[in-house]
Amino acid sequence: MPNTSISSRPAGVHVAIIMDGNGRWATARGRPRTAGHVVGARTARDIVEVAQRQGVGTLTLYAFSGDNWQRPRREVSGLMRLFRRTILAEQERCIQRGLRLSFIGRRDRLPRELLLTIESVEAATAHCATMHLRVALDYASRDTIVRAAERAAAEGGPLTRERFTALMGAADHSGSTVPDVDLLIRTGGEQRLSDFLLWECAYAELYFTRRMWPDFGEEDLAAAMEEFRARQRRFGAVDDDGEARKIRSA
Ligand code: IPE
Ligand code: IPE
Ligand code: MG
Repeated sequence: MPNTSISSRPAGVHVAIIMDGNGRWATARGRPRTAGHVVGARTARDIVEVAQRQGVGTLTLYAFSGDNWQRPRREVSGLMRLFRRTILAEQERCIQRGLRLSFIGRRDRLPRELLLTIESVEAATAHCATMHLRVALDYASRDTIVRAAERAAAEGGPLTRERFTALMGAADHSGSTVPDVDLLIRTGGEQRLSDFLLWECAYAELYFTRRMWPDFGEEDLAAAMEEFRARQRRFGAVDDDGEARKIRSA
């Protein structure tokens, strides 16, 4: 495979972000955690624009995990309302900017109004092709894998990676193709995946920053992208002379 730079194939780069640190950001300012989520939603809106300008092809944002239902009821319901408000406010702009918006994760536990909003914005932006923005809502990677495995067992027959990937796409609503993650960013200082895209991150470059999500800005994304470009991705291969082969530079 030839060496290609990020600028020559912008549509191919998949960046995923674990947007962590809203609660701590707010608490440090003597404000309720929900205030951090409100500012975090603005950050997400701004970063989507920046990512689009920087040539990211697919951006997956972790907004709410399956385990986040365990948070206080007030925080959860505040988040659900915030998600709906944000989607409604941004829908028109997504269409104008050619942004396809879709959601991955379970849908059977979301409030009905939020579910309807999701379905409507997905339909309204389905034709958009500039960048694919995926938002992970009630998302849990291990549950996706288990549901796909259950389906595979029920259907029987030989199981290939491709077929399993398609079953995962059906299980988490990501469609027939589940793109591998090229760069995974986590804000907020923790260095873990918290059940996010475990399968898709098999060869992802990991980038952790202490910056809390509400403070994450254009320069932070640029710094992450720059480091990503400088990394050598090997996908397990080496050349005959023992040198690591630069199969695909970021
Ligand atoms: C991430 O920020 C947003 C969601 C999980 C919804 P947190 O709410 O986890 O913020 P911290 O990690 O407690 O600071
Ligand atoms: C991961 O953050 C989920 C999102 C950012 C939406 P958490 O704050 O829930 O993860 P842990 O609890 O620190 O692992
Ligand atoms: Mg957190």
